Amino acid sequence: IRASMLVDKHFAVAAVDPRVYGSFIEHLGRAVYGGIYEPGHPTADSNGFRRDALEAIQALKVPIIRYPGGNFVSGYNWEDGVGPKAERPRKLELAWWTTETNEVGTNEFAEWAKLAGSEVMMAVNLGTRGPDAARNLVEYCNHPSGSYYSDLRIAHGCREPHRFKTWCLGNEMDGPWQIGAMTAAEYGRIANETAKVMRWVDPTIELVACGSSSRSIKTFAEWEATVLDLSYEQVDYLSLHAYYNNNEGDTANFLASSLDLDQFISSVASICDYVQAKHRSKKKVMLSLDEWNVWHTIGTSRASERWQIAPPEFEDVYTFEDALAVGCYAITILKHADRVKMACLAQLINTIAPIMTETGGSLWLQTTYYPFLHASNFGRGTVLKSIDHSPKYDSKSFTDVPYLESVSVYDEESETLTVFAVNRHLEEAMELALDLRSFEGMELIEHIVLESDNLKAVNTKNDPNRVTPRVVDRTTVDQGRVSSLLGKASWNVIRLR
Ligand code: AHR
Repeated sequence: IRASMLVDKHFAVAAVDPRVYGSFIEHLGRAVYGGIYEPGHPTADSNGFRRDALEAIQALKVPIIRYPGGNFVSGYNWEDGVGPKAERPRKLELAWWTTETNEVGTNEFAEWAKLAGSEVMMAVNLGTRGPDAARNLVEYCNHPSGSYYSDLRIAHGCREPHRFKTWCLGNEMDGPWQIGAMTAAEYGRIANETAKVMRWVDPTIELVACGSSSRSIKTFAEWEATVLDLSYEQVDYLSLHAYYNNNEGDTANFLASSLDLDQFISSVASICDYVQAKHRSKKKVMLSLDEWNVWHTIGTSRASERWQIAPPEFEDVYTFEDALAVGCYAITILKHADRVKMACLAQLINTIAPIMTETGGSLWLQTTYYPFLHASNFGRGTVLKSIDHSPKYDSKSFTDVPYLESVSVYDEESETLTVFAVNRHLEEAMELALDLRSFEGMELIEHIVLESDNLKAVNTKNDPNRVTPRVVDRTTVDQGRVSSLLGKASWNVIRLR
């Protein structure tokens, strides 16, 4: 099959906000305990953090990490996780029915995030708590000194404030599974009042209100409209959460699911604009897709035995086709660079994650690590609106699905153009013609592919390199015309300068 893209450097969608390459670490499963933190592990540093995990995360260049939840945050008392470790309480954790030891809390995570090169996207508990605990947490984290909570932080060994800039006003408060779930009206009011006092403590912070926990939940759209109506001037971002899988065993349909994400983003942007219009506001609310991924085990119940400490949970093993889907979602996020300013791959390690560790043992990278790595490392600069032509197909849930899913990003500083492209065709290679008429003298840096002859191939502890990227010789450049051959069912990164 044949497809084409006309890419012009003057047709800018928007600058990529680096925070679209964010991720998420929740106190869930072995993400914290056994993931980033494992005192006694051969690679552990003096604070108990695994260096092997840190290095795999650093390579991803994740500019922001959401913490500490997720559903976990809706029952979390932040005070339990600060101060001398020996005095921290063990608590029954009701989101996931585990025991939380509180060995890692806000200050440890802040220290670790610095090493990872990431900002922290903090979340406050609006499930069992409210404005009071939230404003105290902002005072503890961000106020320099001279008040009860800022001095408490200093007494806990953190002289400098953390200056967390981005804060989530609760998590998925629309979900019946959430501790303290609310109606949209209840949440809109509490989000507004909480945001108000948090900003009074620190006017420099940015706030994210909870949108719907999925596009398929019944209250979707009404929820967004009501919540924003009640909190519009106090919030900067509205969140979206989106998970997909191929549990139905229909790969063509699964690879088309990024069209659902595309529609979801457009719909939420429209709702934000509707509320802006209604309020005659000057402000535009931006989007934070702060949970997205493939999730096979979604909806399976919590750990079979209650009150374990950090039991393995949701340790999805990602296939090659999952990596293609992740590539399609990353491309979709970039196409919405004018509106999606933050996005978090959920999650980062062990729990629905691209990085896996064995407690006490080795670390390996899942298939999905690679498209995220490429997007984050090379997808910096300005997203360009290209004119694409591709043959299309219909699948069970989608019509007119282009076989080519692609986006181009131009980094003016390094004068590098990167084209990310997935060939969704499961049987046939694609000849892609790139017309770069506004770019002069472009030459190929490299064409990287992720391919496999088996859509279900996975990387495991014992076979960690079954699906890894490689550089191929399948792109030619001739006077502004670039031809690339994209293998059937493949992820491609074409880099030119
Ligand atoms: O990422 C796992 C869970 O998915 C989060 O805790 C929750 O917010 C979502 O439902």
